[in-house]
Amino acid sequence: MLTTSLPGGTWTLGGLTVTRFGYGAMQLAGPGVMGPPADRDGALAVLRTAVELGITHIDTSAAYGPTVTNQLIREALHPYPDSLHIVTKVGANRDPQGGWPPARDPQSLRRSVHENLETLGLDVLDLVNLRLGDAAGPLPGSLAEAYETLADLQRQGLIRHLGVSNATPEQVAEAQAIAPIVCVQNMYNLAHRRDDELIDALAGQGVAYVPFFPLGGFSPLQSSVLSTVAARLEATPMSVALAWLLRRSPNILLIPGTSSATHLRENIAGAALSLSNDDLAELDTIGR
Ligand SMILES: NC(=O)c1ccc[n+]([C@@H]2O[C@H](COP(=O)([O-])OP(=O)(O)OC[C@H]3O[C@@H](n4cnc5c(N)ncnc54)[C@H](OP(=O)(O)O)[C@@H]3O)[C@@H](O)[C@H]2O)c1
Repeated sequence: MLTTSLPGGTWTLGGLTVTRFGYGAMQLAGPGVMGPPADRDGALAVLRTAVELGITHIDTSAAYGPTVTNQLIREALHPYPDSLHIVTKVGANRDPQGGWPPARDPQSLRRSVHENLETLGLDVLDLVNLRLGDAAGPLPGSLAEAYETLADLQRQGLIRHLGVSNATPEQVAEAQAIAPIVCVQNMYNLAHRRDDELIDALAGQGVAYVPFFPLGGFSPLQSSVLSTVAARLEATPMSVALAWLLRRSPNILLIPGTSSATHLRENIAGAALSLSNDDLAELDTIGR
């Protein structure tokens, strides 16, 4: 049984217990998530700090860099502690311009699962998310062929658990009819609340919801209400945004990204911020 002093406590993804406060490793790669980071030693230090601080959930993908982020994780942390769970995703490639073309045909998915295994130095991937849609967000359409391919790789023992990312509620339901999902990873934050209903439905089913861009992603969250609440609490807007997500629903897991160990510590402290009902009501007006 994992105990943690990290804010939010723990959550069980399938059989895997993780800290609700995790770490998103995407932006450890170079600018545009392409190539090596400017500060390689700093990137390795952030990963080691995350584990030293007790984080047991790291989010990555072989598409980051491509493969740069996975290689950094392996160099910093392999052999991995038993408690650490690395979550990866497949379904998009990179093009030379840094774009994210879909790669969801069975052959590409199999190749991508093996690329993740190899670059992370693992025999089995704990959790693989099928990334759908495109860079602008979810798109309608059947995921059956792609998700069945991953379910097949799961039966072969290469994947423990499955999830979906950048998915519509219809695609979540379609996946669940094929094989269980343990998480949905979609864009969601204080200002971007398209998935409110989905989060509540997943909470009822015991399925995790993992918001990407919890701090706004490449453009930091900006809102006068957020700034006002943060100033009143003598906290940063980022702290308020993370604390709000932990309060929003018990099935929400955080994977904020940072390339700075100082920011990582700040974010852990910030997520523990206590929000009153009045604060919550005020913050609730931002994304409505
Ligand atoms: N499934 C998908 O399609 C998908 C898409 C995007 C992302 N993701 C996942 O979601 C994770 C989180 O997304 P993200 O990292 O892009 O966005 P994010 O967590 O919303 O924001 C990260 C940005 O916030 C900055 N930041 C973090 N803490 C800070 C602090 N205390 N003070 C000032 N700036 C701070 C970081 O800069 P510094 O480096 O300077 O701290 C970085 O630029 C990714 O790492 C990735 O694993 C998944």
